[in-house]
Order: sequence, then C-alpha cells, then structure tokens
Amino acid sequence: DGTERMTVDYVKGILQPTPTCDSWDQIWDFQARPDDLLICTYPKAEGTTWTQEIVDLIQNEGDVDRTHRAPTHVRFPFIEWIIQSIGSGLEHANAMPSPRTLKTHLPFQLLPPSFLEKNCKIIYMARNPKDNLVSYYHFHRMNKALPAPGTWEEYFESFLTGKVCWGSWHDHVKGWWEARDQHRILYLFYEDMKMNPKHEIRKLGEFIGKKLDDSVLDKIVHHTSFDVMKQNPMANYSTVPAKVMDHSVSPFMRKGEVGDWKNHFTVAQNERFDEDYQRRMAGTGLTFRFQF
Ligand code: PPS
Repeated sequence: DGTERMTVDYVKGILQPTPTCDSWDQIWDFQARPDDLLICTYPKAEGTTWTQEIVDLIQNEGDVDRTHRAPTHVRFPFIEWIIQSIGSGLEHANAMPSPRTLKTHLPFQLLPPSFLEKNCKIIYMARNPKDNLVSYYHFHRMNKALPAPGTWEEYFESFLTGKVCWGSWHDHVKGWWEARDQHRILYLFYEDMKMNPKHEIRKLGEFIGKKLDDSVLDKIVHHTSFDVMKQNPMANYSTVPAKVMDHSVSPFMRKGEVGDWKNHFTVAQNERFDEDYQRRMAGTGLTFRFQF
C-alpha cells in the first residue's frame, strides 16, 4: 500500500531503490519522443520540484490556473519510479500526450539511450553537496518508501561513500557535467537560482524556446518562490498520503536555503567532507557555492 520501505539493490554499481518498475531493461528501452523535455537532478537538488514548477509556468506563459491542474507527481512522470495510485513511471509517461516534461534522478550512464538518440532537451540542476546531503537526509526521514537513513552520523558516511539511492553525488554531477557539451543539456545550479531567479528563469525560457516578457517573468518568480510554493498543494506534496510522506517528521518544502548544512555538520565532519570534495572534484571545472 505504499507504506513499506523499498529495498535497494546495485544496478551497474549504483544503488537504486527496487522495484522501480518491472525491470531495468524496460527502463532502458523507454522510447523518448523528440519533443520531450527531461528534468534531471540528483535527489533533493531541488530540480524536481522547483524547476518543474518553473518549466510548467513557462510552458503555460505564467497561467497559474493551468499549473494548478494536478499535483507535481501527476503532471510530470518520474520514469524510473512507481507511484501506487498512478503505476510505473514508464506507463505514466507512455500514456501522456506530447509534449511531455519528464523527471529522472538517473546518473548519466543509466539514462535510457533514446533521450540522446532523439536529441531531447535536458535540464540538469545541481546543488552544493552539503545542503544536498542535509536535504536528502531529512527526505529519507519523512519519505516512508525510501530506506530509513539511520543516524545523522551514519547517513553522513553513506552519502560520502556513495551508498545512497541514485549513487554518489560526486559521480552524478560530474557525469552530467562531462556530457553537457555533446548533448542538448542546460546545466544549472540551485545557488544561482536562489541568487537571481529571474535571470535563471529567462535562461530556462530561452532553452525551452519561449520568449517571456518581463511581467510574465515576474509572475513566475513570484509563484515559484519558496514561500508561495510551500503553500501550494499542487507543488508541496501535501496531497501524498501521510503514510508515504510524513510532513510532520520533516516537510517536503523544508527550508529551501543555501547554507543550512552549517546547522548540521560538526567541525570534524566539515573538514572530512572538504578534504574528500577537493580530492574528488579537482580538475572538473565544476564549482559550487556553499554559502552566500
Ligand atoms: S526530490 O524529492 O528529489 O524531487 O526533491 P527536490 O525537489 O529535488 O528537492 C527538494 C529541495 O528543494 C527545495 N525547494 C526549493 N527551494 C527554494 N525555492 C523553491 N521554490 C523550492 N522548491 C523546493 C526543498 O525545500 C528541498 O530542500 P530543503 O533544503 O530540504 O528545504
């Protein structure tokens, strides 16, 4: 009934919740359509909810009533996931008329090849790993479908060693970063979105192929602000039964800030994280802001 925690298994070396649908071959056989737009993030990088809302408003030229038509998880099929009330993400996507906007958390190497063969537009959103870790930890606590996170100390170790669902944060952001020039990938950062949402939303509009006038842009900035989305039942996951997502443990729209990691990391954890980060991210050209 959706209350049982999913088990996890390694898929090509990456920890994944199982079962996500009937089989991984079915996921990899998924047939994208050329006009599909794919939103891809490491879990809790924000992309799935904030970017989805922004993209929907861009596509509907700021018409809020249109974006209130259904909750996020109904508007955007999550291709490698299963939702009890909807079915597998694949069935959900296949039943949806074009143009579709789809969601995935898959690392680049696990993406169904058809998205690249059809040259689909892909939006990737990355978030600094310290805030990403904190957000993911709280999500594991409130989302009863995911494995229990253990203590904060245990989860910290799991994240650092990549033993979390959808694998290592470092490999995920690097994999998509390296792929961005060979495909139609717009690579964005949560911290930029927080710092200058209008600028980033304009960039998204250009990528999608919609020219937005200033008043529509301002409207989208307003309706996709953290405070407004937190109150929007079509964007805050409050329609998901509490036995699956328990917002009293930790709300889905939790804090939406840059730098909340400072309230969680010990000095020793921070030093360890930095040392590991510098070693693994050196030479990638990828830089993240950890605070403003
Ligand atoms: S999921 O479950 O992977 O789809 O989650 P995802 O949407 O990627 O990440 C959730 C985090 O994004 C924050 N969020 C926002 N921040 C700022 N502004 C807006 N509008 C917004 N919408 C979602 C959300 O609060 C989660 O981050 P934390 O740090 O836990 O608050």
